[in-house]
Amino acid sequence: MPLLKLKSPADFIGKQGSGVISFGSGQPDLPPPKEAFEGINVKRDLRYGLIQGETNLREALSKEYPGSTAANFVITNGASEALDLVFRMWPGEKILLPRPYYYSYLPLILMAGMKPVFTDLVDGRIDIKDFRRKIRGCKAVLVNSPSNPTGRVESIETLKEIEKTTQKLGIYVVSDEVYKDLIYERENYEIQGKRVITINSFSKTYCMCGVRVGYLWSADKKVVEDVCEFKTHTSMNTNLVGQDMALSTLSAPKEYTEKQRLIWRERRDFIYKGLLDLGFDLWKPEGAFYVLPKAKNARKFLSVLYQEHKVITYLGEWFGAPDRIRLSYALDVKQIEEGLGRIRTAMKKVRVL
Ligand SMILES: Cc1ncc(COP(=O)(O)O)c(C=O)c1O
Repeated sequence: MPLLKLKSPADFIGKQGSGVISFGSGQPDLPPPKEAFEGINVKRDLRYGLIQGETNLREALSKEYPGSTAANFVITNGASEALDLVFRMWPGEKILLPRPYYYSYLPLILMAGMKPVFTDLVDGRIDIKDFRRKIRGCKAVLVNSPSNPTGRVESIETLKEIEKTTQKLGIYVVSDEVYKDLIYERENYEIQGKRVITINSFSKTYCMCGVRVGYLWSADKKVVEDVCEFKTHTSMNTNLVGQDMALSTLSAPKEYTEKQRLIWRERRDFIYKGLLDLGFDLWKPEGAFYVLPKAKNARKFLSVLYQEHKVITYLGEWFGAPDRIRLSYALDVKQIEEGLGRIRTAMKKVRVL
């Protein structure tokens, strides 16, 4: 069979089908809280809404961010739009990007006319010495903890160091915390400061990726104003029905996220051990739901896995990590087990180790 072209994750996003096991898209398979559906009001006013987002949703979010008000938030079409709008503020400027990175960061940065400066992760985490060296001359840094694709969580010490260094130099921190509720080892530590822009989403915590509701938080009035200005001319307001659902999820009991975390941890343990048993070299995830094992002949392996075994995995190359593959374990344990069995068979045909 010819090798698949495999240009980007778009080749796989949304692909399902009988017998397909997808370790591809990072979308939770677990149900959203029942509150999400209770929030749907089909008879609501459907005229344009506020560009910045519905006031009641922003007010409810402000209770989760001490010291903030509804004015600090912009509700966006997922974290994806928040990232896009933020980068547009700084054309021509440099941004420090830890590598491997979430696959959309680089295209978004380039489309905004920014210049990426890379700092390579060590064991999947930020190397603070390299970070400090490369940050000079940058307008902003991007931090994503827990990380997609490494599954690693930065230490609180590193996050505090980033806070300190960026504050001293007057550099913005774009902190993508879409996996903040999916940390196995400790509570989330939220980077704080005048120049911090926090990106978040209802996609992962509340298992509602397709509803497309996310947001950004910033203490800087100008950031909120600039982002709203761009949003006026790109997507206008975020889907109103989705915002109602998002508001309603905020009243879900805390046990909802706690229960999810236990399920993710069980899956993490299962896939981590399974891949180790197959001989893969990989980092143990501490949050989110991804693994990024080393893999030789990754492109061929992906092709064979998909075409001959109906298993979807992603190329590490899309995340700035050639010679690795990325697997999302947003699947139940039975499917993970079946998928690992098929990977074992494919390994007989392609030399990955
Ligand atoms: C690190 C990271 N940021 C942002 C996103 C985009 O999330 P959303 O569905 O909220 O647009 C994802 C989705 O996988 C992600 O992994």
